[in-house]
Amino acid sequence: MLIRIPRFDEPLPSEITPRERLASRRLFLHGMAAGTLAATGLADAALADAAQRPRLPAQRNAKYIAPDKPTAYGDATTYNNFYEFGLEKDDPAAHAGTLKTRPWTVRIDGEVKKPLTLDIDALQKLAPMEERLYRLRCVEGWSMAIPWIGFPFAELAKKVEPAGNAKFVEFTTLADRAQMPGLASRVLDWPYVEGLRLDEANHPLTLLTFGMYGQLLPNQNGAPVRLVVPWKYGFKSAKSIVRIRFTETQPATAWNRAAPDEYGFFSNVNPEVDHPRWSQATERRIGEDGFFTRKRKTQMFNGYPEVASLYAGMDLKKFF
Ligand code: MTE
Repeated sequence: MLIRIPRFDEPLPSEITPRERLASRRLFLHGMAAGTLAATGLADAALADAAQRPRLPAQRNAKYIAPDKPTAYGDATTYNNFYEFGLEKDDPAAHAGTLKTRPWTVRIDGEVKKPLTLDIDALQKLAPMEERLYRLRCVEGWSMAIPWIGFPFAELAKKVEPAGNAKFVEFTTLADRAQMPGLASRVLDWPYVEGLRLDEANHPLTLLTFGMYGQLLPNQNGAPVRLVVPWKYGFKSAKSIVRIRFTETQPATAWNRAAPDEYGFFSNVNPEVDHPRWSQATERRIGEDGFFTRKRKTQMFNGYPEVASLYAGMDLKKFF
């Protein structure tokens, strides 16, 4: 059993900052991010890493280019959530260098007619790579716009031929203590597991993602393969996936198990459903919105209204 779960946007036990000051402290850190990170060398390290990272050629898909200005590479690669490498935003950039992303295999099984175990390079070749600029909205109240590279998850689903009773897809990510120092913390019951309903997974927006900004994914962003589900809160977009299992019943997901009243299975971005401890009506765009800038309004389904039909007839306050 987990004894104490430091949740999103909650101070760590080691922090003594009173809760009411935490938000402003974090915003201050956002505002100062460039300077602070440069001072620690993290942003420089991220850029140096980018200089030698292999390119991942992809066709830009005009249908999926959000009208947003892309977030600066330095922000997208140094302000991360990847608890396997620590709980602070700069921990993944500082510690994910230990993650070994090749060789890497992904097992795809469960309720499918043709289960597969694929080497990451074979998985990458399964369908043509596309570049898409998606907004990613974190449940903590910040967002980014990132040029991801990948192909629709539906392309993979087609290959394994889901059986008639497959209703959900479970994504399990790597949990290796030797490579991931954050596993020593019991913040979650590892491994990190996420899930989608099969029709959500097969929606054309759901991207099996291998790269960003023209290159293979940096480790801290979920190399070598992650999910990006742009109409849901960021935690649904599981990083460093090792197993994809088609199931008949709804998978038990890591955040839902840790705090079911706070992190529902659906977790669609919804400005009308507050998190029990904070509003979801607005968000701060990392790198753009400074300390004194007004927050922008969060849009229903994060501005992807085409997914609304997936939830026809469902009470999205109950199924949050
Ligand atoms: N995947 C794993 N394996 N572990 C994590 O801690 N954090 C999630 C998600 N995927 C997480 C994860 C959360 S809370 C968010 S907001 C996004 O990754 C952040 O993605 P980014 O760091 O690339 O912006």
